[in-house]
Amino acid sequence: MLSDLRKPEEWTKRRLSGVRRYCGCRGRWRVARAQAPFALPPLPYADNALAPVISANTIGFHYGKHHKGYLDAMNAALAGPAKDLAGLSLLDLMKATAGKPERAALFNAAAQTWNHTFYWNSLKPGTGGKPPAGSRIAARLDTDFGGYDKFRETMKAMAVGQFASGWGRLVIENGKLACVRTPNAETPATVAGRTPLLTIDVWEHAYYLDYQNRRADYVDALLDKLINWEFADKNLVQDRTFIGRSRAGAREVVTLLFVFANN
Ligand SMILES: [Fe+2]
Repeated sequence: MLSDLRKPEEWTKRRLSGVRRYCGCRGRWRVARAQAPFALPPLPYADNALAPVISANTIGFHYGKHHKGYLDAMNAALAGPAKDLAGLSLLDLMKATAGKPERAALFNAAAQTWNHTFYWNSLKPGTGGKPPAGSRIAARLDTDFGGYDKFRETMKAMAVGQFASGWGRLVIENGKLACVRTPNAETPATVAGRTPLLTIDVWEHAYYLDYQNRRADYVDALLDKLINWEFADKNLVQDRTFIGRSRAGAREVVTLLFVFANN
């Protein structure tokens, strides 16, 4: 599953559809792909795998109703009033609609589709707490926050302090780890100079069934028991500013380039 996460724009793939047509220029039959709706990415775990921190009941509504609802709204717009954008990848669709009031509904649907896939992958059963000793992300927490405890305090403050709906996030900003909060559907994926590493959904639909108004307890539980440091570590390597700040990072990027070049 994690290998699918190296290209965020590929997370929400379109269903393939089309008809076979003969391509004279290449002398072979090819499938002409018609525009098809985006598909809902599967959860990276069973719907009860995060219990008791997040119940299967919450996952059922959050993933099955809210996440799917955003995706359905995006597909409906792309099949109707926003047909001119129907050929874009999810990431390009968010970039094309961000900051445009006349496209606000489509941006919200597309960004929330992306945000939720990122959130599901920011969590993993049996993890949380401090990142593995000696990992790249652990080293960066030490360098940029002065250690895990300061990161945890900052991340909790960002997530709990977000007024109304939104997201607490760990990002790379200008080459340095930072905790930020974003309201509503806003996402760092469309912001130049920001690379998302992890996120915590603090919309009420994420925690109210299990925690009611105790948002701080929900954030504590996620940080201590579900945060997926492996995911953050992989996202860290995607950030171009990582090259040059870490020999290990540079080595990994060179390895990835070698793999891509030979496949
Ligand atoms: Fe949500």
